Amino acid sequence: MAQRESWATRTGFILAAVGSAVGLGNIWRFPYQVGEQGGAGFLFIYLLLIVGIGFPVILVEFVVGRNTERNPVGALKRIGSGAWTKIGWVFVTAGFVILSYYSVVAGWTLRYVLLGLQGNYTADGALDQFLGAASGMDAVVLHAIFMAAVIAIVALGIERGIELSVKLMVPAIIIISVGLAAYAFTLDGATEAYAYYLSPNFSTIASNWTTILPAAAAQAFFTLSLGMGVMITYASYLGEDRNLAEDAGIIAVLDTFIAFTAGLIAFPILFAAGIEPGASGPALIFVSLAAAFAELPLGGLLGAIFFGTVAIAALSSAISIMEVVVSYLIDERGIGRVPATAALGVAMFLVGTPAALDLVFIDLYDGFANSILLMLGGLLLSIFVGWIVPDLALEEISKGIRNVGSLGSTWLWFVRIPVVLALIVLVALNAWDYFGFLTGDFADWLNTNL
Ligand code: PHE
Ligand code: NA
Repeated sequence: MAQRESWATRTGFILAAVGSAVGLGNIWRFPYQVGEQGGAGFLFIYLLLIVGIGFPVILVEFVVGRNTERNPVGALKRIGSGAWTKIGWVFVTAGFVILSYYSVVAGWTLRYVLLGLQGNYTADGALDQFLGAASGMDAVVLHAIFMAAVIAIVALGIERGIELSVKLMVPAIIIISVGLAAYAFTLDGATEAYAYYLSPNFSTIASNWTTILPAAAAQAFFTLSLGMGVMITYASYLGEDRNLAEDAGIIAVLDTFIAFTAGLIAFPILFAAGIEPGASGPALIFVSLAAAFAELPLGGLLGAIFFGTVAIAALSSAISIMEVVVSYLIDERGIGRVPATAALGVAMFLVGTPAALDLVFIDLYDGFANSILLMLGGLLLSIFVGWIVPDLALEEISKGIRNVGSLGSTWLWFVRIPVVLALIVLVALNAWDYFGFLTGDFADWLNTNL
């Protein structure tokens, strides 16, 4: 068997992991979740969950990946037995479903780059414009174009494809985001926006925690690329001299910084145009933000830059999702990288096509994969690492750390008890929510369309 690939440099690995983390989750999903959940209260809970659950679970995935040097399915086969070996399948399935619709949403961002360059954002017709762009043949074509870009990069491999591309993409995302936030700071809506975004109202949190908490947890998982084996896969290409805790910290901080910055961009622009951020849901950046760009001087150009950044962020995440499933086909099935990537790309394109034709499929896929599979995968893996292979986990996390002290044992305790308990509750709450969607909105859709 050919020698397994690996990262050429430490920065390459970190940039790839940050590139995976920073994506549509930060710039598309995060601001509308803040909007739907009522502003600063959500931000507050979200930050707590990033630190309390997100950071420890990144490490859970890292130890499994680096220890086994395998894709998620192979990794669990190597160190687990019996039913535990099946957890890898939850990851690979989630990856498949998520990339199918992620690529559709990424296609919308390409459309909005074009609309901006043509000076075609409209304030009054923004919703119709979005509905026209989101579903239909154009959306299918843009979905195909985006998927083709993902295939091209992943087919080139770890070093020449993923590592090289993220070295260009990640710095660009960070620099442009900061620039746009600085610009938004100068707008009229800034003060009002910061109050909305940054000062939590604790009585609203107290009365809405049953919806805020599961939504914030799902967001934390999605944004850190957790529960899908991305961090297992990326760490499997890593050497033993790396300090995993330090790398996990860098990833969590940068991802949070970009999500936070996305709010600093979106909310002042929305408030400056007098648009209420709460009502638009998944359409927020497309409908409301595009409408706001329509009112700004040079708004078309600004919008094209903004949506272009979102598209790049989406690409650097999409390649990580593809890599999970590709690494499975390479390691376990002995399929070559190029045919594996091409075949998967086509299959995911087809599964995603309904989502490019009707918006209800975005909710159907997103709800299932994002709010249930990811957190379920994270829960099962945390139980496995914390309770079934704790010695291996402790040993692995200590490698590459000079002064490990009680870091390893604190982490392990944290994973075994608080993380597992919290995830059990959160998976249950999210499953309940999704059941409501299936029997409500989705059932209505089936009734009217079939
Ligand atoms: N973290 C990515 C984002 O925020 C999405 C993602 C989820 C990527 C799961 C990989 C795995 O957009
Ligand atoms: Na993210």
